[in-house]
Amino acid sequence: MDLYDALEGRRAVKHYDPSYVMPDAEIKELLRLALLSPTSFNTQNWRLVAIHDPKLRREIRAVAWDQSQVTDASLLLVLCGDLNAWRKEPHRYLKNSPPEFQEFIIPAIDAYYRDKEQVQRDEVMRSCGIIAQTLMLTAKAMGYDSCPMVGFDFSALGKLINLPDDHVVSMMIAIGKATAPANPHGGRLTVDDILVIDRFK
Ligand SMILES: Cc1cc2nc3c(=O)[nH]c(=O)nc-3n(C[C@H](O)[C@H](O)[C@H](O)COP(=O)(O)O)c2cc1C
Repeated sequence: MDLYDALEGRRAVKHYDPSYVMPDAEIKELLRLALLSPTSFNTQNWRLVAIHDPKLRREIRAVAWDQSQVTDASLLLVLCGDLNAWRKEPHRYLKNSPPEFQEFIIPAIDAYYRDKEQVQRDEVMRSCGIIAQTLMLTAKAMGYDSCPMVGFDFSALGKLINLPDDHVVSMMIAIGKATAPANPHGGRLTVDDILVIDRFK
């Protein structure tokens, strides 16, 4: 499936075949492609928690408005971000860059995020949003459907997955084989509704 078809075909699908097992090789390929997503300063600040344990799936469903995708999808990913990724061995993010670039950019990364909690949080949410869409489009291209999710108790989910203090949850993505089509679409705004040329009035 090409990108146009994946874009046109992706919908938020809510019902999945609970008996379908996604082969490990496909999960690995999906994640490999998802990691091609861009992040600011290449900090790759996403941390993806794959929920395999059926009991944990049921516990998450109980704090996620009883949404069946949580237990029935073949793959359930909790998209988290490390608020401190920018300062955890930043050379890792630049290991292929020329030394002179590293010397310039590493202090710049520090200056951009240090003592700026809102910027740190915004960055994690930006990164997770981008990787979420990569995951959903890649899943579609691989023959799967998906559902992005924020319909859950963030604090309860954080406890269930032992979320570290310096991480936040952005959303969940359920991926699997659909057993029912998505609900009729709510309707889309037009380009004229959302496009501003040059500046707001
Ligand atoms: C960040 C985000 C969170 C969402 N949370 C939920 C959710 O918890 N449960 C659900 O059924 N759909 C959820 N949706 C799906 C939206 O309702 C859906 O994307 C929207 O209606 C547009 O439909 P489409 O994705 O099929 O184009 C979420 C979508 C996004 C982007």
